[in-house]
Amino acid sequence: MTDRLAAKRRAAEASLAYVKDGMRVGLGTGTTAELVIGLIAERGLKITAVPTSRRTARLAEAAGIPVTDFTSGLRLDLTIDGADEVDPHLNLLKGRGGALLYEKIVAVAADVFVVVVDGSKRVANLGAVPLPVEVIPFAAPRIQAAISAMGAVVTTRLTASGNPFRTQAGHQILDAAFGTIYDPAGMAAELDGLAGVVEHGLFLGLASHVLVAEADQVLTL
Ligand code: A5P
Repeated sequence: MTDRLAAKRRAAEASLAYVKDGMRVGLGTGTTAELVIGLIAERGLKITAVPTSRRTARLAEAAGIPVTDFTSGLRLDLTIDGADEVDPHLNLLKGRGGALLYEKIVAVAADVFVVVVDGSKRVANLGAVPLPVEVIPFAAPRIQAAISAMGAVVTTRLTASGNPFRTQAGHQILDAAFGTIYDPAGMAAELDGLAGVVEHGLFLGLASHVLVAEADQVLTL
C-alpha cells in the first residue's frame, strides 16, 4: 500500500464515526469509496447502500452490503465520497472517475455529506485539474464551443480504445481546463445555463465535513 493510500485509509476509517446501523448511505466512486466499503464490511456495520456506479454496487454487494436506490426512500442519512480538489470553503471539484452525476445526486440527497481526501487534494482555489462537465451527446459540439468561449481548453473524455467515454446514464464528459477558478458559483451558474449540460463537477456548499489524511493525522474540516 502506498503512503498516500495508507493515509486515505486512515481518513476512511475516521469517516466510519458517522456511520450507524440502519442508515441509508450514499457511496461514491473511486478508491475512497472502495476503502469505505471494505471498512464497513470489516466492522459489520448494518447499512443499506445507494451506490453511484456499477463498480461501487458490485463491490458493495460482494462485501455483503445490501444495495438500493431512491425507490425505497427519498433521503439518505449519510453520503461518503472522495473528491479531486477541496478548497478552504469546502467547495469540491469532482468527476475524474466519471460518476459526477450520480455522485451529486447522492450528495444533495444526504443529511450529512462526508468527503474523504488525502492532503494532496487541498487547494487554495479549485481548477488546477480540468473540470468535468457531463453533457448530452447531441449538444456536445455546441457546449464544447461555449465552454471554450468561457476561457477553457476543452477535450472530450475518451476511453482507452479512443471512443467517447459514456457515463452510466449514457452521456459524454467534456474536461474543461480553466486554470484557477476564482468564482466557482458564477461558473456553476454559467454552466447550468447551457442547454444540454446535465451536470458539472463543481460541488459547492454541499460537503458537511471533509476528512483530510495528512502524513501523521486526520484533519476534520
Ligand atoms: C468520481 O467521479 C470522482 O468524483 C471521485 O470522487 C474522485 O475522483 C476521487 O477519487 P478517489 O477516491 O480515487 O481519490
